[in-house]
Amino acid sequence: MNHQAITVLAIESSCDETALAIYHSERGLLSNCLYSQIKLHNEFGGVVPELASREHVLKVLPLLREALADAKLSLQDLSLLAYTAGPGLISAVMVGAFWAKSLAYALNIPSIGVHHMEGHLLAPMLCENKPTYPFLALLVSGGHTLLASVKAFAEYEILGESLDDAAGEAFDKTAKLLGLSYPGGPELAKIAEMGDSQQYAFPRPMCDRPGLDFSFSGLKTSVLQTVKKTDAMNSEIKADIAASFQQAVVETLFKKCQRAIKQTGFNRLVVAGGVSANLCLREYFTEFEQHGVEVFYPDLEFCTDNAAMIAYAGCQRFLAGQKDDLSLNVRPRWPLDEGV
Ligand code: KG4
Ligand code: ZN
Repeated sequence: MNHQAITVLAIESSCDETALAIYHSERGLLSNCLYSQIKLHNEFGGVVPELASREHVLKVLPLLREALADAKLSLQDLSLLAYTAGPGLISAVMVGAFWAKSLAYALNIPSIGVHHMEGHLLAPMLCENKPTYPFLALLVSGGHTLLASVKAFAEYEILGESLDDAAGEAFDKTAKLLGLSYPGGPELAKIAEMGDSQQYAFPRPMCDRPGLDFSFSGLKTSVLQTVKKTDAMNSEIKADIAASFQQAVVETLFKKCQRAIKQTGFNRLVVAGGVSANLCLREYFTEFEQHGVEVFYPDLEFCTDNAAMIAYAGCQRFLAGQKDDLSLNVRPRWPLDEGV
């Protein structure tokens, strides 16, 4: 175990956000900078990997200057570089990984590759109300949906995951069907506020079968059929479809968490990843509190992709004794429980 105080600079570049953050092992988060590429990808209705990586290259240095200025530090004050090593769009991951490795080499300090989903899982640790181990984790992002038993830091066992679309992906694809702009999740949630969630009886996929896996592609198809059957689509109908879809996703996630809590006996639940920003989900999940299960979320700014969570995870890994060599291991796919 390493006990010295360290200052970590982290970069997150696995998708369409270029993010840099500085985290101090004792003082906490010192800066958290982010450039969102949403505008760039908007006209294509989704992320274009080649454009994403080029934009990461362009934004990384301005963000570095900003991150150092916010933290009132210089490059010489850094003691560790952390970067997202996967899973993600590999050309985009590589930009951050190469950059972090090179800068660490030039500064003669170590660097650590972080699992993007471990970052999400640990994001609530950056907040005031932190969970203690062990806990159940529901990770709901654009690329992944999974339930994991977290016995201690870095001890993860995957209990269930999505067999097809991730929850965020289902939000995005359904939003597209409704003619909403990318990234559709937050847009869909916004119009759902005006809708009636009982108007359409969409399926609660895989809830009638045992097990903890998820499947969201059938739900999306069910929405597609409803949209096709609707002759005069208007904003009211759209809001009802959005609210009914959102309710189906939230209830499905709730049901699986309930099952996993029963199975593990844990009384703490962490919900993280982009979809954990969904307010309907947060409201519905308050039900757990009535059953003695405490639910923890990241603050809204740490739900979607950010570098603060990567800095925190990198810091913990370094303090736990992880040493990466100079080789560059980046992975487009990387099961969370497979280790480093
Ligand atoms: O974790 P994240 O930023 O990126 C990945 O690692 O994939 O998650 C992004 C996903 C997107 O699919 C986005 O639509 C969804 O999270 N999302 C939401 C909300 N905010 C973001 N989905 C539903 N409601 C929201 N408020
Ligand atoms: Zn993410």
